[in-house]
Amino acid sequence: MMTTERANISTLTRESSIALFKEIGQIIRSGQVNMGRQHYALSLAHGVQQAIHCGYDKIVAIELGVAAGNGLLELCQSAHFFREYFGIDIKVYGLDGASGLPEVADYRDHPELWTAGDYNMGDPSILRKKLPHFAELIIGDVGETVVEVLDKIGDAKIGFVSVDLDYYSSTKRAMRLFSDPNPEKYLPALPVYFDDMDSLITLNEWCGEAAVINEFNTEHQYRKIDRKPYFNIPHFHVCHVLDHPLRQGLAKPRIPLSLYDF
Ligand SMILES: C[S@@+](CC[C@H](N)C(=O)[O-])C[C@H]1O[C@@H](n2cnc3c(N)ncnc32)[C@H](O)[C@@H]1O
Repeated sequence: MMTTERANISTLTRESSIALFKEIGQIIRSGQVNMGRQHYALSLAHGVQQAIHCGYDKIVAIELGVAAGNGLLELCQSAHFFREYFGIDIKVYGLDGASGLPEVADYRDHPELWTAGDYNMGDPSILRKKLPHFAELIIGDVGETVVEVLDKIGDAKIGFVSVDLDYYSSTKRAMRLFSDPNPEKYLPALPVYFDDMDSLITLNEWCGEAAVINEFNTEHQYRKIDRKPYFNIPHFHVCHVLDHPLRQGLAKPRIPLSLYDF
């Protein structure tokens, strides 16, 4: 049974973890505790549960595409809850160019939906002032800033990523985030939210985020992104890090990774 006190990670078993996260899932879905966007909170919860099972105490949550910062601030709300409840270190990074969408490269960027300059952040210092101590806003083209984040995170594991860059061209450049040669920078099954998959009539498999995912899966033998509709979280995907020692049978998790939806 969940209490308001900090959970004791060291006594968790697979069974008690499944029961506890089921309860956390219900709390998020019912809105009983405000953790911001439910799809962020639930996706991050899957990252936190997996980190605990693996024995990791430092994870990182990243939002690619921040605009005015509503999503980033809500992700911070979720991270705050899990930091307090489990006592694990969660850092949050938001990556954005600050001046809104760049120029459209071609039809794959959906020019029928978006125009250069849309979602301009304005002065980044205004958003920076609202962020908690464990969050950081990094300004620049995502093609470069994802490399900066991969350097910055040290021995923490990437535990959740939200991809909301709208364009094919921007998302394509940002995918370097998922292909670092060191598989131990990631959870073995990293939860990823892709915002623009199929909710609008012109979105399709040959443009935008969906095309980038298909190409990424073709280009990488040991990194594969798939959608998990069974988990009942809008746009929930997993990046399978198949070269991770835990997925190669070279190491065992502290608690088995046979985990369900919640
Ligand atoms: C739809 S908005 C993000 C909204 C935000 N996730 C939310 O839910 O509140 C898309 C953002 O992606 C950013 N973006 C698109 N391409 C980019 C690039 N190549 N480098 C950096 N930022 C980029 C834009 O600046 C814009 O703010």
